[in-house]
Amino acid sequence: MKLNAAALASFLRPAAAAVLLLLFIGWDERAGAHPVDRPLSPVLRHPQTYQDVREVSEHANDGEDDTSMRAMPRVNTDDHHLEICCLHANILDYYLTNILHHTNDDHTHMHRLKTSLHRISTDLQAQGCNVTQYHDHKNAVDFRTKLEKMEKKKGITKAIGELDILFSYLQDYCVEPRKDTAA
Ligand SMILES: *[C@@H]1O[C@H](CO)[C@@H](O)[C@H](O)[C@H]1NC(C)=O
Repeated sequence: MKLNAAALASFLRPAAAAVLLLLFIGWDERAGAHPVDRPLSPVLRHPQTYQDVREVSEHANDGEDDTSMRAMPRVNTDDHHLEICCLHANILDYYLTNILHHTNDDHTHMHRLKTSLHRISTDLQAQGCNVTQYHDHKNAVDFRTKLEKMEKKKGITKAIGELDILFSYLQDYCVEPRKDTAA
């Protein structure tokens, strides 16, 4: 009996090592494109989403007479990256409920983009972003106040024109904590 247990153990050990190796390879492949930072929503790294964001925001800026004023506050890079992420998840939520449904899908990519942004918002909340918690954050308040001071249509165009800024913040900060610092 003892022999059998030992034989079993010596069989299982390499088997376990092989499973670990496979897990490691699988992990590595998924992380391959960006070895360090894995996005909290895979959609943040779809080249298609990035391209849609750029085209839609450039299109909005084309009709703008004043692109010098920026409504989206700059981030405080001393804040923890997940806080910056969730703050912008709140701003994204504002876009989804107050900005984007005023746009008709006249721009060809608008409908596809809305779907992608909804997915990002869902993913970020599933990953633990409480968007309500950031409702009164200074940056979120400043952003809404600036837009609300503008004539409605202008405010919407301004916001769409800054979608690329929002998206790049989400891309930069909505990443998993690095493995070595994860608790
Ligand atoms: C989200 O944040 C709000 C405001 O801080 C809080 O009242 C609420 O309980 C939070 N929700 C969750 C699920 O933690």
